[in-house]
Amino acid sequence: MKIGGKTKIVGIFGYPLAHSLSPHLHNAAFALLELDFVYLPFWVEPEDLDLAARAIKSLNMVGVNVTIPHKEEIIAYLDEVTPEARMMGAVNTVLNRKGRLIGYNTDGQGFIDSLNKEGRFDPRGKRVMLLGAGGAARAISSVLIRQGIASLIIVNRTQRRGEELAHHLKRIFKNRCPIDLLEFNQRSFWGGVREINLFVNATSVGMHAEDHLLTNLDLFSPGTFVYDVVYNRKTELLEAAEEQDLPCLGGLGMLIHQAALSFEIWTHGKAPLQKMREAAEKELGMGKRGI
Ligand SMILES: NC(=O)c1ccc[n+]([C@@H]2O[C@H](COP(=O)([O-])OP(=O)(O)OC[C@H]3O[C@@H](n4cnc5c(N)ncnc54)[C@H](OP(=O)(O)O)[C@@H]3O)[C@@H](O)[C@H]2O)c1
Repeated sequence: MKIGGKTKIVGIFGYPLAHSLSPHLHNAAFALLELDFVYLPFWVEPEDLDLAARAIKSLNMVGVNVTIPHKEEIIAYLDEVTPEARMMGAVNTVLNRKGRLIGYNTDGQGFIDSLNKEGRFDPRGKRVMLLGAGGAARAISSVLIRQGIASLIIVNRTQRRGEELAHHLKRIFKNRCPIDLLEFNQRSFWGGVREINLFVNATSVGMHAEDHLLTNLDLFSPGTFVYDVVYNRKTELLEAAEEQDLPCLGGLGMLIHQAALSFEIWTHGKAPLQKMREAAEKELGMGKRGI
């Protein structure tokens, strides 16, 4: 990579950032396409977010990704937010368009692209169970409803947070699809689990080898698609799904597709998906394991 006076700067605002794969994905893509861009990590503490947001303009940056803990708070510092990001209440990509900061959210569409293109699964008309009510769950549930799923069951460890998500979705989408909340301790015994077509783990459980499996897949019907947003390792959930011969995918595809969409917002060019995947797999020390 050659940095010069015309090099365009993008990066990521988050705290902490030590394990972020994004710099590896984007810089590999810039190098392959010989684009004069560089992607840098910016450790931004919550109290400095306003200064950091203003720096996008003052330093003439092309844009940034935004990650935990800033995805919601950044909205207050933007000039415009796309309807999708507004609906999710979270922004993960900012574009500096001639001094105006535009907020996007590519997480939800990244999930759909991964599900469609890698999983060959079309969620339209499907019954979905979603575990989690954090940022990932918020983005995924919104795009799934927009795609036209038949119904959504939300399950979250902290009931209040699950209620908030269900309430938010009902307010935004009115009667687009039935949305129900199931108690966390009922998740494995609920008879209706046989009826679901898509199960999504949008919690962070599975990131660590000592994490317990949160779901008993025994009651799932054959063909139920299992998607785990966790991307840093092959989770116990994916292993259990494979054992039961259920179609399944891990979250690396979502990570790559959301990054590709951000790349395209900044460069107006097509992202080299394969190169980005290779860079992520290399960084994670993975072989090609199809996760
Ligand atoms: N593949 C991708 O591109 C992508 C994109 C975004 C995020 N992710 C991954 O998605 C996961 C969640 O991220 P996030 O941004 O949504 O985080 P978040 O906002 O902090 O939400 C975390 C979620 O996990 C649940 N959870 C955490 N520990 C749990 C446990 N021991 N038992 C049951 N539930 C537990 C939380 O439940 P409570 O409400 O009860 O705390 C909450 O629903 C992370 O692994 C992240 O890396 C992947």
